[in-house]
Formats: sequence, C-alpha cells, structure tokens
Amino acid sequence: MRAKPSFTAGQLHRHTSPDELARTTRALRATGRKIAFVPTMGALHEGHRELMSRARRIPNTVLVVSIFVNPLQFGAGEDFERYPRPLEADLEVCAAERAELVFTPEREALYPDGAQVTVHPGPLGDELEGAVRPGHFAGVLTVVAKLFNIVRPDYALFGEKDFQQLTLIKKMVRDLDMDPHVIGIPTVRERDGLAKSSRNAYLDAGQRTAATALSAAVTAGAYAGAQGAQAVLAAAEAVLAGTPELEVDYLALRGPDLGPAPDQGEARLLVAARLGGTRLIDNAALHLGGGELGTHG
Ligand code: PAF
Repeated sequence: MRAKPSFTAGQLHRHTSPDELARTTRALRATGRKIAFVPTMGALHEGHRELMSRARRIPNTVLVVSIFVNPLQFGAGEDFERYPRPLEADLEVCAAERAELVFTPEREALYPDGAQVTVHPGPLGDELEGAVRPGHFAGVLTVVAKLFNIVRPDYALFGEKDFQQLTLIKKMVRDLDMDPHVIGIPTVRERDGLAKSSRNAYLDAGQRTAATALSAAVTAGAYAGAQGAQAVLAAAEAVLAGTPELEVDYLALRGPDLGPAPDQGEARLLVAARLGGTRLIDNAALHLGGGELGTHG
C-alpha cells in the first residue's frame, strides 16, 4: 500500500515526483481547500512574489509553486544552459510567500520519453514572439498543460509581462476544456519602469540603462492612444529610435486578445528587443481613440 502523502498546513513541502504532488493536491482538495498555482522557471523576483501574494489572497487556497526550467520552450542558441537556477534562494522566497507546496521536478520526471506529443498553439503561436522564437509557445503550452494535469489547480496565475503567453494559455484552457481559472496579474516594474524579469540579471550597467526604453516606448504609445493607432506607433518608435543599442524585433499594436487592433477601444502595444545577447519584452494596455488617456499595464 502507498504511504499517505504527509502535509502540515502552513509549512513548505517540496516534491520532485509528479505522482506524489498529484496525490497531495488531490488529498488537499478532498478536505475542501482550493488549489492556487503559480508555475515558474525559478530565479524568483518581485514579479513572481506578486503572483504568489495574489494567489494567497484567494480565500481557502493552498499555494502551489512549480520551479522548472522547461527545455521545450528554448530554441537552439537560446539561454537554456545559462538560465539562472538559484534553487535555495527560490525555496526561501516560496517559504516567505507562504507557499505550502513547491514542485521541482527533474527533466526526466516530466519528459520520460522526450516530448513526443505536444500542444499546438494555433496561428497566434507563430506571430510576435512565436515568429522570432519558433516552437516556443508549443513548449510553453505543453509544459503548462502537463503541470495543470499534475496539480489540477482551481486557479493559475501568470504575469501580464508575458502577455502573449498569458493569452495563449487562456485560449488553451478554453479550447481544450481545461478547468483552471487563469488569472493575469499586471507587470511589476522597477522604479524606472523596467519590467521585472529573471533575464534582467544578464544586463550590464549600460544595457540596464538602455533597457528602460522598452517600458518608456510602450508608455509613450499608450499615452498617444487618444490620437489613434498611427500616433501610438509613432510615439513608441520615437522612443526606441533614441536608444540605438536596442535591436528591435517587433513593435506591434493588437487587440486585447492579440487579434487585429480595433480602430477604437481597448488594445495592446507590444515590444521585443535585443540588447547584446539578452532579449527583453514589454507591453501596455491602452485605449485607442475617443480622446481618453491610455493606461500603463
Ligand atoms: O513564464 C514562465 O516562467 C514560463 O514560461 C512558464 C509559464 C513557467 C512555463 O515554463
């Protein structure tokens, strides 16, 4: 007979086995607690802490965090090998944020036979980030679907910084009839506007200064929203042009679900650029037309 998974409320428990974690969350659900899940790749920062803190505020929930640098979402020549993995510090963050379960599987535990069956993200998966990083979103959706199947969360929280990822995860949940309620949380920023990201650690001092142009560009674009789409793009482009170190991959104005931008109404402005070997992304919500000021999201 299998040993019952042991669990002491209020303490952090670490699991590396998918089966063990699944049994623990199932047992907790049977006691009436809801599962709030924050999937991460570790190198936890204020943005992740905000997701955990929001998750914890949902009544009667157990906070489950996963830490797994998912090889499937990195392309050849990307930063899979050098991606930061400060596990001990990450576990301390999870404990400080009062997570009760942390899942840190090995690669073989999640992909015992490699990844032969994957989730296809549909056309949006080939646009914007997907156009620059082919296969990235299939990798993201595959691991998120697997984690959802293991954890069976009631709520799953993701940052709006990766807005296309958030959009695709919501689409996957809807299109594949999955259960979790997906909650997007606004981007957490440094005082100068730079979106918090584990990859900011790669930037040297000069690049760190230049990196603020991304948030400045989407903010400038958002504030031009009342003048329409062309004004939004022109305002953002002017900021980016003032920082020649940035190699811009795209600057795009889309609808709130990343379909075509409307003439009037809610929209998203997204930017991605490279600084040396580091790729950074940012985005902002805005309102097109109607004479209203945009908002910075
Ligand atoms: O946003 C991330 O950290 C990752 O893409 C995620 C959602 C944890 C999947 O590996």
